[in-house]
Parts: sequence; C-alpha cells; structure tokens
Amino acid sequence: MARIIDLRSDTVTRPGPQMRRAIAEAAVGDDVFGDDPTVIALEERVAALMGKEASLFVPSGTMANQVALASISSPGDEVILDRQSHIFNYEVAAAAALSGLQVNPLDGDRGMITAEMIEPHIRAANVHHPVTKIIAIENTHNRAGGRVYPIEEMRAIKRLAGRCGLIVHLDGARLANAVMASGVSFADYASCADTVSMCFSKGLGAPIGSIVVSTAETIRKARRKRKMFGGGMRQVGILAAAALYALDNHIERLRIDHENARRLGGHIEAVDGLELAYPVESNIVVFRVHPRLGTVEALLASLKEKGILAIPFGAGLVRMVTHLDVNEGDIALVGEVLRAVKSR
Ligand SMILES: Cc1ncc(COP(=O)(O)O)c(C=O)c1O
Repeated sequence: MARIIDLRSDTVTRPGPQMRRAIAEAAVGDDVFGDDPTVIALEERVAALMGKEASLFVPSGTMANQVALASISSPGDEVILDRQSHIFNYEVAAAAALSGLQVNPLDGDRGMITAEMIEPHIRAANVHHPVTKIIAIENTHNRAGGRVYPIEEMRAIKRLAGRCGLIVHLDGARLANAVMASGVSFADYASCADTVSMCFSKGLGAPIGSIVVSTAETIRKARRKRKMFGGGMRQVGILAAAALYALDNHIERLRIDHENARRLGGHIEAVDGLELAYPVESNIVVFRVHPRLGTVEALLASLKEKGILAIPFGAGLVRMVTHLDVNEGDIALVGEVLRAVKSR
C-alpha cells in the first residue's frame, strides 16, 4: 500500500525501535504506592526542567488540565480563558462536570487573551458573583494554528494574577514546541504560571502520557484528584520511559517539524483559493478553502485518495500538523497534490 502521510495531528506518531527498547527495559513498580522508579525519575526531571517543586505523570493532556484545575479551585469558582481554548472546547465540559467550575470565555486575539483584556472580567467581591479564581492560557495554541504566546504577555498576566490573588494555569500540551519556536526556556514559561500541563504524546512522540507541574503542595492535591478521576496507574514506568526518551531525543528535532510546517504553509499560499488562516509559528497549519475550490470535505476526500490525511477545522478550514513521522519529501508531495487538486 502507498505511504500514508498523516497530517491529522501530531498525536498519530508511533514509537520507533529505540523508544520501544526504552519501554521494554524500563524499571517499574506500583506507582500508586509511589514505587515506580522510572515515573519518579520522570517527575523529578520535568519539575527541574520547569523550575518547579514537583510534578505528576497522568494519562492524557485532558487529565493534566483537569487535575490541575481541580487542585486549585473550589466548586463555583470561575476560570477566565480564551473562547478558542482546548479546555473550553474539547474537554467535554470537564471543568464544570468534574470540578463545578464556571468558565468565562473571552474573545482573545488569535488565541491570546491579554492582561488588559482579562482585568475588566475579574469579579469584584460581591455575594452575587462567582469568585474569579483562575486564568487559563494555552501555549502553543491549538485552534489558533500553533500560535506561540509572547512571554512578555504571559508575564503581564502573571503580574495581574499576583495583584488580584488569582492562579494561572498554563495548558502547555505543546509547550516544547513553544520553547523551540521562541528560544524561551521551559522554566521561563513555567515561571508565568502556578500550574503547567505538558504532553509527551504530541510532538514529543511518546505513545501516552502528560504531566502536571506545580508546587509540592498542589501536586499532593493533584495526586488525590488523579486517583479520584481514575488516573492512578500501576507499573507505568514503561510509559514514563517513553516520555524520558522523548525528552532526551525529541525536543531539539521539533525545529524540523516547524520548518516542515513553514514549507507546507508556503505550498498552501502558492495555491490560488487556499489561504493560511494564521501565520505558521510552530507545527500546526490551518488554512481556508475558498468555496470556488469546492467544500472542505471534497478537498479532504481528494487528498485521502492520494494518501494524505488532514482534518476539517471549523467552517471552511482545514488543519494539518507536522510531526516526526513526516519528512521534507512528504511535505513536497503534499504541495504537489494541493497544486493538482486546485487545477482539476
Ligand atoms: C492544547 C491542548 N491541550 C490539551 C489537549 C488534550 O490532550 P489529550 O488528547 O491527551 O487529552 C490537547 C489535545 O490535542 C491540546 O491540543
């Protein structure tokens, strides 16, 4: 069968032979008893990388966000976030269902809410109001085409939060992409937040796993919440080993994914009737299909016939994501196919 170029997400990568070897050779123990040495090593490593006291390995990015939110709030509290954020759109209303949180979505600028936008929405103490407790931001921003949050803006948000007694949560599912795209360190980004989530199963190429990073006290609470949400895992060092392998081998190479995404963006811009919805800043490319080229569904079907997979991403939009299982040659081929689709 012809090679499939799967650009639906960076979650589709499969562990290569060396990662599989790391998985096979991992020392393990029962992590609910705190006995898994590989999980402990991963949690210590990521806490140090982020310059925070502690961290907690969890099965998914959704659980990382939700365990963090649950650990820093009480039912009835309010979370300010961007309307396009993952927490608001793609986590099955878990903040409301699991933690009793009210979300207050703001219309950010391409996924970015600023301190200036947020400040008027912080509630005054009043018996009628929910308590504004959390500001949640996303870096890189998925729906905003992999946008990298400017560190100055994150610092301004942290200062505002400090003045107003609020907690900042950073959904850093793709924080490693932000680090590679901007040159800002993990620790500098993490210093702008009280809790940080990060995924190993996206651009970093591990099969499963995410992490929550914070103070030792918050992580103690998070450990209880993880158990409550059914995320207590046993000999999970086999997955922590994949995450450690990814930290050692798959961070620097994200530059290649970003370069491929820029090349892909160039191919898209060269096709009359396709238009980038956002500048390409990391590994996510979102583009608009002009109706004269047909529907998004028809375009995706033609691409699929040629072995290229992408996903619809809202009205008239397509998303393609680069990752370690696609190379420069694949991107050139996608460019050729897009040019041919257009001229059919
Ligand atoms: C920004 C962001 N946060 C969180 C998640 C959730 O990760 P998971 O699919 O592992 O639950 C995703 C998944 O794509 C994401 O893009």
